[in-house]
Amino acid sequence: MTVHIGATPDQIAETVLMPGDPYRARWAAETFLEGAELVNEVRGMLGFTGMWRGHRVTIQGSGMGMPSLSIYANELISTYNAQTLIRIGSCGGMQPHVGIRDVIIAMTASTITSPSSGILKELNYAPCADWGLLRAAVAASEGRNSKTHVGGIYSSDVFYAERPDLDEQMVRHGILAVEMEAAELYTLAARHGRRALAILTVSDHLQTGEALPPEERERSFGDMVEIALEAAFS
Ligand code: HPA
Repeated sequence: MTVHIGATPDQIAETVLMPGDPYRARWAAETFLEGAELVNEVRGMLGFTGMWRGHRVTIQGSGMGMPSLSIYANELISTYNAQTLIRIGSCGGMQPHVGIRDVIIAMTASTITSPSSGILKELNYAPCADWGLLRAAVAASEGRNSKTHVGGIYSSDVFYAERPDLDEQMVRHGILAVEMEAAELYTLAARHGRRALAILTVSDHLQTGEALPPEERERSFGDMVEIALEAAFS
């Protein structure tokens, strides 16, 4: 057990899907896993372990933002020996060709600061996805209903941003979407020699102001979870 995860070491699988929202962890476990068992409820950050097509999988909430994700990812890696960590979450679309409900597979995750900035110092490190997982996720996304985009995203420290000039530069430089966790996940995975990927569903759009109603958020996330599971075990 760790400070934030109450599971015994054998209760966590080598492959972990990490939604930000603990309720989405429960929905994904109940919807996609067989025999899912609750393995963590410390601070309400629910985690479940079950089987998907004969493979053992844990779905553990990460909370919102890089500091929260960093706590869970560090403990999953160091104490529970997680090898493959896939974030499944929502993001805000930033390009005109990116629509609500589209799926984004994040090749890179740019940041201004992250929990790792303190050790990286002047290095403008480029957090990137695991190539094998990225390739497998792109293959798994083909032929699905959801339109998929592959490219760079931005991991922000704030949801309520106050920098239109920064948004403008990111749009200009092809950033597809904004979320708040992937860059630190990629950096931690690189540091510890693990595989990481972020697969996101567009829940709102910064330019059009469109947003998915809360009840639809859950259901339109199914493609993303299936892509993550197929990628993890391909
Ligand atoms: N900003 C940051 N994170 C997000 C957003 C957003 O607009 N939408 C979903 N996650």
